[in-house]
Amino acid sequence: MREALEKIKQIAKKELMDAQDIKSLDNLRVKYLGKKGELTNILKQMGKLSSEERPVMGQIANQVKTEIENALDASLVTLKEKAMNAKLLSEKIDVTMPGKPSPMGNKHPLNVVLDEIEEIFLGMGFSIVDGPEVEYDYYNFEALNLPPDHPARDTQDTFYITDKIMLRSQTSPVQVREMEKTTPPIRIIAPGTVYRSDEVDATHSPFFHQIEGLVVDKNITMANLRWTLDTFVKKMYGNDAQIRFRPHHFPFTEPSAEVDVMCFNCHGKGCRLCKGEGWIEILGAGMVNPKVLINAGIDPEVYSGFAFGMGLERIVMRKYAVDDIRLFYDNDVRFLKQF
Ligand code: DAH
Repeated sequence: MREALEKIKQIAKKELMDAQDIKSLDNLRVKYLGKKGELTNILKQMGKLSSEERPVMGQIANQVKTEIENALDASLVTLKEKAMNAKLLSEKIDVTMPGKPSPMGNKHPLNVVLDEIEEIFLGMGFSIVDGPEVEYDYYNFEALNLPPDHPARDTQDTFYITDKIMLRSQTSPVQVREMEKTTPPIRIIAPGTVYRSDEVDATHSPFFHQIEGLVVDKNITMANLRWTLDTFVKKMYGNDAQIRFRPHHFPFTEPSAEVDVMCFNCHGKGCRLCKGEGWIEILGAGMVNPKVLINAGIDPEVYSGFAFGMGLERIVMRKYAVDDIRLFYDNDVRFLKQF
């Protein structure tokens, strides 16, 4: 029995040393120390020994058991270390390798400029409001003093959905909605998409963007309009920017004007950008027609107001010398990346 124990010890130690992974180590633990293991089998035969031999063999057997257990533990430590090293090696990161650039998007030029415009008007105490793009004929035309036979009502120009509902052709209906909803003082801009059934070419698109402005309060005059627009263009184009008013006609304002800004390229001398004019038209404006105030429930005896409307695409085209409106909608990144 002593020999048998000695032999098991030798073989077990050798096998344990040779074990390549934790799983085979587990198998060896079962093979020697398990319920049906080799050592256990020998220990089961202890009963056959004489009472003198039994304590001696018991001691030897326990020693062998302890040695196998120690060898198992030692082997486990080594194998775990090996496994960890292998894992670290396989997960090694080379911090000197060049990184992968992730492409960055950028703002659409229309949004770049719209953000700028909004910032300027917010700074002057305006709020930004929204209105529906699918609009009633009433708000888009009738309440704005556009009589039924007005040329702008021609179905050539406007997308009708029913005879009373349409895609708004201007942001001016937001004026009426805002006046109905609130009491003066009102100081808002309303940016948004508008639709017109125009043929597509370098300067026309069936949809584009406008920014409407409206101020209603007591004692509002043309001077307030002029100061507001003057401040706007100076912030937008620089302190030497100048504006001029030209008389015009809009049904919803009286008096009305078209407003030009002095060409920021040639400073009034005339160049390609301003087509030799020296001035560039940027918006329509005027004093809110008393009929429009009445339609929206505001007493023109108490209040007066001014309004203006500008085309966003035009402003961006002039600012960046873009010569084709279609570039804004083509989504060609080579164009869009430049802003
Ligand atoms: N709604 C006009 C258009 O689309 C622009 C405009 C002109 C708006 C004068 C106004 C204004 O508020 O006072 O052509």
